[in-house]
Amino acid sequence: MSNNGDFDTFQGRLGTDCVKWDMIVKLYGDDVLPMWVADMDFPTSPKIVERLKKRVEHGFFGYTFRSDEYYGAIIDWYKLRYGMNVDRTWIVDGPGVVPMLSFFVNLFSQPGDKVIIQPPIYPPFFKVVENNGRRVIENRLVKKDGKWQMDLESLEKLIDERTKMIILSNPHNPVGRVWTHEELEKLYEITQKHGIMVISDEIHADLIYNPHRFVSFLNVGQRNVVVLNSPGKTFNIAGLTNSYGIIPDEKIRAAYKVYLENMELNSTNVLSVEALKEAYKCSDWVDELMTYLQANRDFAYQYITSNMPLLKPELPEGTYLMWIDCSTARLDKPQQFFLDKARVYLNDGADFGDGKCVRLNFACPRTLLQEGLERMKKAYDNAITVEHFEMSDIRFKQCMLIREMVFIIGQNIEREIELDGKDEEALHFLLKHFSMPIATARARQIEDGVWKIERVAVLKEYRAYGYGKHIMEDIERVLKEKGAKKYVLNAQIQVQGFYEKLGYTVVSDVFEEAGIPHVKMEKVVA
Ligand SMILES: Cc1ncc(COP(=O)(O)O)c(C=O)c1O
Repeated sequence: MSNNGDFDTFQGRLGTDCVKWDMIVKLYGDDVLPMWVADMDFPTSPKIVERLKKRVEHGFFGYTFRSDEYYGAIIDWYKLRYGMNVDRTWIVDGPGVVPMLSFFVNLFSQPGDKVIIQPPIYPPFFKVVENNGRRVIENRLVKKDGKWQMDLESLEKLIDERTKMIILSNPHNPVGRVWTHEELEKLYEITQKHGIMVISDEIHADLIYNPHRFVSFLNVGQRNVVVLNSPGKTFNIAGLTNSYGIIPDEKIRAAYKVYLENMELNSTNVLSVEALKEAYKCSDWVDELMTYLQANRDFAYQYITSNMPLLKPELPEGTYLMWIDCSTARLDKPQQFFLDKARVYLNDGADFGDGKCVRLNFACPRTLLQEGLERMKKAYDNAITVEHFEMSDIRFKQCMLIREMVFIIGQNIEREIELDGKDEEALHFLLKHFSMPIATARARQIEDGVWKIERVAVLKEYRAYGYGKHIMEDIERVLKEKGAKKYVLNAQIQVQGFYEKLGYTVVSDVFEEAGIPHVKMEKVVA
């Protein structure tokens, strides 16, 4: 790699007072793999390290100021990466993007005023509003045509005379949308119409995957607009705590400068200034990083969709964060589940406004990512159980509910035929995933050593996830332990292929049962 950047090797971060690792190990133990907070497990660009070393070796760490070289670096970066012309006078200083959010809320609204945010959203967006005594108004994102979108119709309805601003995450953390020019334009139109300020947090701007293109809010409109940014996420230097704003609107800019002056926050950390000046020369490093991150993103997405199909991950267009919807699994507290059972620490969706989701940070060496995902899969697989019992057991009711849904309602089979009076002599099986009943079957010994498997049913919305195979394998294992020599079944012809894959062979012509064509199949126990 041209920058000597090595994204594959992990030297470990423990013992550095690092929030991502040390804090989690302290709280939950050293067997936990942290895949949370937006902090990458890659060292920053070697050129930044070199520059900081040189600065450190100088040995003087007195007060510093941001020079022309510093502002020039920001201007050049915007020109190079986004083709944008940023005027030097538009740039204002800050001690971090989140503190700046808080400052703008304070400065441009009064206690009790309303600030709109669009959950699920980066948790400090709630805090900077609520902790300053303002009211959070949630304009929740909506999923339309499989894509997260801003609900602009609802947005307009939420605005009243107490609504002062909207805080936008562009690109959006956690769902990974890179807002398009058209989407931002529509948003700008509404905010302009109602005289609302837009604070666009663009800290993930550099982390965009092909074919998506970052659009700064400044390219859409500049009146009553504040853009906030920092090299913190892109170069993994958030711990140096520095940020900037770009504000073409002169009145807002002037008011903010006075505020910063009054807060005595004009100075900054010497090393953060050095780092920004060098970072914004490291365009090649960012390109290499993005190639690595894109492969990680695709790997994680592919792995989750094929191995944990009840989890629904979002393929992010930008950021190194993956928002995973666990609602299909009906997991009550998915973050807690993966911490307890997989020993993987993910961000809890509840903090973002949706407790049915988790957020996975995939900015780490591939081996670590794979390890985390494998741990999650193991916990996911272990959460599948198959129990067996007799009809008198209370759990039989759950089997009957599934049979009712699948056969009586789903296939219009008459209740009298379904309830054939043979349940009493059968052994009943119930498959659950995350304690949710999903599949059932029963088995009866019809001759010495010959077991007939019947009433195999998987709830419709959980088909094609492998539960049928899972319950059949468990049934065979249990029956084998009971001395089975042969399994037989009557298969509806549309599932003949499914049983063939499990080693069953057809031993009859097609015949009708309950008005449905069937074949007899059997499998001799190995
Ligand atoms: C959307 C967003 N804004 C701001 C920040 C943090 O900014 P800072 O460290 O400069 O306060 C993050 C960090 O994850 C973020 O995701």
